[in-house]
Amino acid sequence: MRLPVASLLLVLLSACLATAAKKTSPSRTRPRAITKRQNSLFISASGGDFHHNGSRFDFVGTNAYWLASLNNDKDINDTIQSIKAAGIKVIRTWAFNGSSPVPYSPLEILTRRQDVDEIPVNGTWLQLIKNGTFTVNEGPNGLQRLDKVVELAEQAGMFLILSLTNNWNPLPGIDNTTATQALERRDVTVGSNNTLPRNFLSNDYGGMDVYVRQLTESKTHDEFFQNQAIINAFKNYTTQVVSRYINSPAIFGWELANDARCNSTLPSAPTCVTTIVTSWHADLSSHVASVDPNHLVASGTHGFACMSCPKLFPLNPPPKPQPSPAPGKKVRRVVPLTKERLLRERTDLMKRNRAARIRSEGSSAGGIKIRGRWLASHTARQSDSSPGSALDGAHGVDSQDILNIPTIGFGTFQLFPDQNVYGPDDPSLPPFNNTLQQGIQWIQTQSQLAQAVGKPLALTAFGLVTQQNAPAFVPFNTTTAPFASEAASSTPPPGNGTAVGGISSAFGVSPAEQDSAYSQWLSTSLQNAVGGAMQYQWTQEGLTPAPGTTISTPTNDNTLGTAPNTNTLGESPNDGYGISSTGADGIQGILSNAAASIGRV
Ligand SMILES: *[C@@H]1O[C@H](CO)[C@@H](O)[C@H](O)[C@H]1NC(C)=O
Ligand SMILES: *[C@@H]1O[C@H](CO)[C@@H](O)[C@H](O)[C@H]1NC(C)=O
Ligand SMILES: *[C@@H]1O[C@H](CO)[C@@H](O)[C@H](O)[C@H]1NC(C)=O
Ligand SMILES: *[C@@H]1O[C@H](CO)[C@@H](O)[C@H](O)[C@H]1NC(C)=O
Ligand SMILES: *[C@@H]1O[C@H](CO)[C@@H](O)[C@H](O)[C@H]1NC(C)=O
Ligand SMILES: *[C@@H]1O[C@H](CO)[C@@H](O)[C@H](O)[C@H]1NC(C)=O
Ligand SMILES: *[C@@H]1O[C@H](CO)[C@@H](O)[C@H](O)[C@H]1NC(C)=O
Ligand SMILES: *[C@@H]1O[C@H](CO)[C@@H](O)[C@H](O)[C@H]1NC(C)=O
Ligand SMILES: *[C@@H]1O[C@H](CO)[C@@H](O)[C@H](O)[C@H]1NC(C)=O
Ligand SMILES: *[C@@H]1O[C@H](CO)[C@@H](O)[C@H](O)[C@H]1NC(C)=O
Ligand SMILES: *[C@@H]1O[C@H](CO)[C@@H](O)[C@H](O)[C@H]1NC(C)=O
Ligand SMILES: *[C@@H]1O[C@H](CO)[C@@H](O)[C@H](O)[C@H]1NC(C)=O
Repeated sequence: MRLPVASLLLVLLSACLATAAKKTSPSRTRPRAITKRQNSLFISASGGDFHHNGSRFDFVGTNAYWLASLNNDKDINDTIQSIKAAGIKVIRTWAFNGSSPVPYSPLEILTRRQDVDEIPVNGTWLQLIKNGTFTVNEGPNGLQRLDKVVELAEQAGMFLILSLTNNWNPLPGIDNTTATQALERRDVTVGSNNTLPRNFLSNDYGGMDVYVRQLTESKTHDEFFQNQAIINAFKNYTTQVVSRYINSPAIFGWELANDARCNSTLPSAPTCVTTIVTSWHADLSSHVASVDPNHLVASGTHGFACMSCPKLFPLNPPPKPQPSPAPGKKVRRVVPLTKERLLRERTDLMKRNRAARIRSEGSSAGGIKIRGRWLASHTARQSDSSPGSALDGAHGVDSQDILNIPTIGFGTFQLFPDQNVYGPDDPSLPPFNNTLQQGIQWIQTQSQLAQAVGKPLALTAFGLVTQQNAPAFVPFNTTTAPFASEAASSTPPPGNGTAVGGISSAFGVSPAEQDSAYSQWLSTSLQNAVGGAMQYQWTQEGLTPAPGTTISTPTNDNTLGTAPNTNTLGESPNDGYGISSTGADGIQGILSNAAASIGRV
């Protein structure tokens, strides 16, 4: 890859800064004698692809945000080893924990006093944010747990994408100005209502809103991207985490934040626009790259983009044509994605679907069991002249502008059709086929957006909720499972839709539909210019439970709402996307087959 002079200088400067950072970093940083030759063992990006050890590196991955919160080293090792055994090369996990709350009194909520967070009795915590001060836990129940994850990944020859904060940390009672009940907040007290174990949910690890609640008066989410005190504190945290692993070959790359957006549970100020979020990414990616010049930095955004917003990093000059691929290699046609082209392709696809439907009218077409889709049914049809909320800047994120930041090394996007709208529904298709097709189009669109920038791209998380998993499903902006009680009262449909313990729900797809979607999304990713696709999320059995930790005993607090307890002792968290016991072989097999199809180990 040819680097402009400016980037080269930046790299050199970064190297100096990194040396400085290393000197001041704690002794627990495990310095390694890394020779120049070994540097190819770090993942790099060139020609729109990931590279490792001298060759192109495409991968299938999975998510296990809870890895650092497991109760012992063996559990971490077993999880990494079983993921490896499935042929998976990359694991995405949380490298943050802004701390979670202790019970608040209703009075504290009413008077909106400053949040008080407290160190938990048991379990892992990485950073305590309390009363305007920040304490990073470098002890055995702190960053040393993350050290262990990295060390065991190194030993297994596995890679980690480490995410540095989360957009989501819902605390309904705290963030709701009219709330009067302490009950409404996240309550992890054993025996109380909503007693999901601490850190059971991916959004229970702190995140941007912890900083906002602690440090601002306005309590608007976008302060995270703009308030200098918050930015300094977050840089401080990232320095301390990132500097520990500068020399580790197990770090695939850093992800600045999971799913950054203008809004979270806390709303944004009306002034929050894409350029604000892009500026933050430019600042933070440059910071992380200066601390760690060895590893790639990514945004971690959902892929939301804006086809007609002002750009801070415009695509200029247009990308050079790709060299023609060797026989048998992927053909890369870089045609810039415009709004007009996107809308034309959508219209053409809808025409084809309609024609196909007319041809099969009267046959058994449409015999697919139609299952209610929550939220996505809000889509309705978008106006023909709009690319829709995923691509018009409605979320305050322009992932393509972010990807073109010089210190951003690769693109990221996610795919969760149960919770996000990616495009208009096609009236000629049954609901499941709409989900399937919109996922395929989302992947293709993301691939086009990234190719125009000329950087590699990873689908860092994708998932679809099944009927079996629906009772456990907790959307990312909530703390409770909306379909938990429905499952408890519903009679399982005949044939399929029956899970272990007889739990099922009218919400969600069948296991066969999930298999079909995952297979097609994986193959679409790998056939397009997507370097890696990561299923959300891994399930690990046989973990060691301990009270007051992520892996608790089922009789205490593994119950979701009023649903019957379905967790076996020592099973990793399931937020609706876990690979349920019944479907484990299916999804694992699909991931393994996709990994094998890449033709590299
Ligand atoms: C890197 O490639 C060399 C030569 O192909 C090989 O011997 C070595 O095992 C590889 N190392 C890793 C970590 O993949
Ligand atoms: C991790 O598990 C693998 C496979 O069982 C084993 O070979 C290795 O020794 C384990 N490592 C540690 C540190 O326990
Ligand atoms: C996060 O911090 C909270 C409280 O500080 C703690 O309860 C929890 O165990 C921590 N989780 C992780 C994974 O560090
Ligand atoms: C919070 O900080 C203020 C000053 O910054 C200090 O006066 C107060 O005692 C602190 N409160 C606690 C509970 O630490
Ligand atoms: C806020 O709290 C009030 C009072 O408890 C409740 O009625 C309302 O539904 C809550 N709103 C949200 C968005 O949680
Ligand atoms: C749980 O919720 C029910 C109904 O909302 C309430 O009556 C009960 O007191 C709650 N229990 C606890 C331990 O908070
Ligand atoms: C940065 O981290 C160090 C070490 O935990 C701490 O002493 C310092 O107060 C932090 N600074 C800020 C601005 O948070
Ligand atoms: C998240 O949920 C809260 C209610 O708890 C709501 O006020 C907010 O608008 C939601 N945010 C997004 C981005 O959906
Ligand atoms: C953020 O949420 C508010 C409502 O709280 C909504 O009016 C606004 O459109 C949202 N903005 C973005 C960028 O999502
Ligand atoms: C819907 O998707 C399923 C599974 O891929 C497929 O078998 C079926 O033919 C599709 N139906 C339509 C109408 O496209
Ligand atoms: C239902 O699906 C499961 C796999 O999830 C399969 O083992 C079982 O045979 C199916 N049952 C029927 C009646 O189709
Ligand atoms: C912490 O762990 C101890 C030992 O397992 C247990 O007795 C205690 O109940 C736990 N505390 C909490 C708050 O979970």
